[in-house]
Amino acid sequence: MTILYFSATGNCLSVAKKLGGNLLSIPQLVKHEQYEIEDDVIGVICPTYCADAPRMVQQYLAKAKLKADYTFMICTYGYMAGAATDHAEKYLKAAAGHADYVAKIIMADTALTRFESQKQIDTLPEKHVDEQIETVRTDIEARKHSIPKVTLGDKAVDWLYHAAGASQIAPDKAKAHIVNDQCVLCGTCAKICPSDNIRVTDHVEFLDHCEGCLGCVHNCPKNAIHVKGERSNARFRNPDVKLTELIKANQ
Ligand SMILES: Cc1cc2nc3c(=O)[nH]c(=O)nc-3n(C[C@H](O)[C@H](O)[C@H](O)COP(=O)(O)O)c2cc1C
Ligand code: SF4
Ligand code: SF4
Repeated sequence: MTILYFSATGNCLSVAKKLGGNLLSIPQLVKHEQYEIEDDVIGVICPTYCADAPRMVQQYLAKAKLKADYTFMICTYGYMAGAATDHAEKYLKAAAGHADYVAKIIMADTALTRFESQKQIDTLPEKHVDEQIETVRTDIEARKHSIPKVTLGDKAVDWLYHAAGASQIAPDKAKAHIVNDQCVLCGTCAKICPSDNIRVTDHVEFLDHCEGCLGCVHNCPKNAIHVKGERSNARFRNPDVKLTELIKANQ
């Protein structure tokens, strides 16, 4: 089994690790222009951004040629996934010709302008994440065929995001990050960025192709990066994933 994953703060990588197999990071596959993957089972695990897959995942799957007997896609999310599973089915079908299993897993929400990370961490036990992963693991092991039915409510969330013109990549994203004087120029933010959007010299510079993943913000060891409108100073990284693992995945 091969799992392709995208993870800014570790939720998706933690799911991938628990499902097992050959784990391939989508930012690395993009960098190495590796679009043809073949295995008996191929899965994709990614976060939900604005009720859809991250832009980089969408673009990767639009170009990819996945060859497998059984394919699956897991959307992790924190609050409302909207029609993310519908979109996932479509992307997987385009890449592999068939989508056999799609599921969503609710985890800590990393959207700093909507939630306080500490509250997300404190209320995590209520989400029963390990039980959800176990269900998905058993389903995949049994090669279950299942695509969730998206409800009218889910479609409304999707519609609201699009009607409000919500974009994962705001035009002023390059200016959306504020680095304060706690920065020690360690370079972690540049290493963890999946789109190579940060340069660290005698200062930290954000370029113009931010994916809006907030990986740099959550993983700065000095908590020196802030975003406009963030609800609190607290930050999150999935406890089952080390900083070095995320750097390896995204660098
Ligand atoms: C920019 C951004 C947008 C997000 N949008 C949504 C959303 O529309 N619905 C939702 O339920 N969660 C949303 N989330 C939460 C993430 O999907 C969730 O926390 C995910 O598990 C993070 O995965 P990772 O830790 O592997 O990066 C968003 C997070 C970010 C950073
Ligand atoms: S990770 Fe934080 S401390 Fe390190 S260079 Fe980036 S902003 Fe500065
Ligand atoms: S600059 Fe930060 S938010 Fe933008 S893609 Fe890189 S790590 Fe993600």
